[in-house]
Amino acid sequence: DVVDVGGLTGKGMFTYDPGFVSTAACESQITYIDGGKGTLLHRGYPIDQLAEQSDYLETCYLLLYGELPSKAQYEKFVSTVKNHTMVHEQIRTFFNGFRRDAHPMAIMCGVVGALSAFYHDSLDISDEHHRQVAAFRLIAKMPTLAAMSYKFSIGQPFMYPDNSMGYAENFLHMMFGNPCEPSNISPTLAKAMDRIFLLHADHEQNASTSTVRLAGSSGANPFACIAAGIAALWGPSHGGANEAVLEMLEEIGDVSRIDEFVARAKDKNDPFRLMGFGHRVYKNFDPRAKVMKEAADEVLAELGIENDPLLAIAKKLEQIALEDEYFIEKKLYPNVDFYSGIILKAIGIPTSMFTVIFAVGRTVGWIAHWHEMISGSYRIGRPRQLYTGHPQRDYVALDKR
Ligand code: ACO
Repeated sequence: DVVDVGGLTGKGMFTYDPGFVSTAACESQITYIDGGKGTLLHRGYPIDQLAEQSDYLETCYLLLYGELPSKAQYEKFVSTVKNHTMVHEQIRTFFNGFRRDAHPMAIMCGVVGALSAFYHDSLDISDEHHRQVAAFRLIAKMPTLAAMSYKFSIGQPFMYPDNSMGYAENFLHMMFGNPCEPSNISPTLAKAMDRIFLLHADHEQNASTSTVRLAGSSGANPFACIAAGIAALWGPSHGGANEAVLEMLEEIGDVSRIDEFVARAKDKNDPFRLMGFGHRVYKNFDPRAKVMKEAADEVLAELGIENDPLLAIAKKLEQIALEDEYFIEKKLYPNVDFYSGIILKAIGIPTSMFTVIFAVGRTVGWIAHWHEMISGSYRIGRPRQLYTGHPQRDYVALDKR
């Protein structure tokens, strides 16, 4: 059929691709995914090797600069990030404008965007140095802001960062510490937290990263772009899934009810989906999910809570879904959010903070993609549409309708 595409003026073929399933919007050298084989490489390095042998900040360096750092480069990078962990004091008062029961992701959308009102030098995106400083600021301040959004919701005093601690340890200190006594963060939990950040660090052109690129393509400042990414991440089909997994496990409530929920997931007349299953790109086991599953087992064993009822439901559900024909045929495997929710619950992170933690880890991916785009040649992103509305018609006066 001949379709009217509204006076095409661009070069090349006009494609209609809902969900951008087969349309590349950019070239990138940061991350490679082969969803069929279950491969994920950052700058060529397999994610499982990074999860085993690297740490979050080293992976941040790799994503930003393209190579693993030397020891001296690594130390300098870590110390520069630490220089930026505090936020402007005025941001503390900014929080008071929110309701105490606000969702932490709602707070993050607002506060991260508001960083542009505090760090004016980062608004000059034409300058490479300013872009680098913006990257440092975002990576360093996200855990501080994330922990503040939690402390605000429970009415406890904000904790200042402690720069003698590692990145993930410091985050747990700001989340769970109090100003009256020194924090004593378990190395196992800090390592698990670091791994969660690392496994979420980048995933090429997912919805939130594409949003950051699209916002950035208009020349918007990095804080505004990352705030747009946070908004896109919030949805239950993307970063909100880890929170939705826990809510679903609670709703299932008992292993005896799993079959009922699996049947609902398969029923085409029921909109219910098993949260934490399926992925747009992976039609095989998500390699991050494999590492996350191992980390979950480690954390649960370390904490001695393998018998938690919700975790029992999760394990049984995983087993049933992996053996079910519907899930096998549609290649629906447990995704990274399925296991990260379990670990976060075990660490004691409240469910409403799950997506915030995803946002903290993903910040480096967002900023690396934004930086890659701004540093090269790019055009404003402007998708076309297939118009299906009325053809031209004449206005009818109000008294004649
Ligand atoms: N439970 C039951 N059925 C499912 C599920 C699920 N979780 N996921 C997909 N399906 C089915 C769909 O009903 C569809 O069936 P059909 O072919 O008979 O119509 C088929 O599998 C394909 O699903 P789509 O929605 O077309 O796949 P898409 O690639 O667009 O969506 C998505 C991927 C959004 C992740 C989807 O699998 C989903 O909603 N999963 C649950 C939410 C979730 O866990 N999201 C986290 C994603 S990972 C991340 O953001 C890090």
